[in-house]
Amino acid sequence: MAHLLSLLVVILVAIPSSRSHALPSSSSPFDAALATLQNQIAYRFHAPDLLRRAMTHASYSRENGRALAVLGLAASQSAAALRALAADHDASASAVSRRARDASGEAACVAAAARVGIPSIVRVAAGTKPTAPPVVCGALRALIGAVAVDANSTHAAEEVFWKLHVLTAASAKAAM
Ligand SMILES: *[C@@H]1O[C@H](CO)[C@@H](O)[C@H](O)[C@H]1NC(C)=O
Repeated sequence: MAHLLSLLVVILVAIPSSRSHALPSSSSPFDAALATLQNQIAYRFHAPDLLRRAMTHASYSRENGRALAVLGLAASQSAAALRALAADHDASASAVSRRARDASGEAACVAAAARVGIPSIVRVAAGTKPTAPPVVCGALRALIGAVAVDANSTHAAEEVFWKLHVLTAASAKAAM
């Protein structure tokens, strides 16, 4: 028994930690960009892996933000629909779905993604344009989904969604 245990210990010590390469470090421009991004959205990840994954396009790695983006889109639509109905309990179904669609739609997410520099952060394979709307929107939605998973809370994700929204509205105003 003692032999088995010590064997187990030897095996565990001998296995290189598969997580070690994913630990946060500021050694690369990508990591530096992720640190800045967290400051901009005023959210610090407990699991930076999730943020790295969110900022990785499917063309770049099998470990990418696609699944997170599904959650991010749902959370964005939920945030917009909730705000519409909270402001007006009598809002019509079409008005609520329009708000959800607009807030989470491509025009809004391209603007929000540009505001926090996502086109220059997201990792894509050579031959894939990081500025293409589906790429930046996918990354922005994945970012929102990553916050939800990291915080285990869609509420936290919705806060980041509105934060991005406000930043975008403010920069649109400043540009006028
Ligand atoms: C996430 O939140 C749910 C609901 O609040 C809770 O039941 C669950 O244990 C949490 N999961 C983790 C991993 O913290």
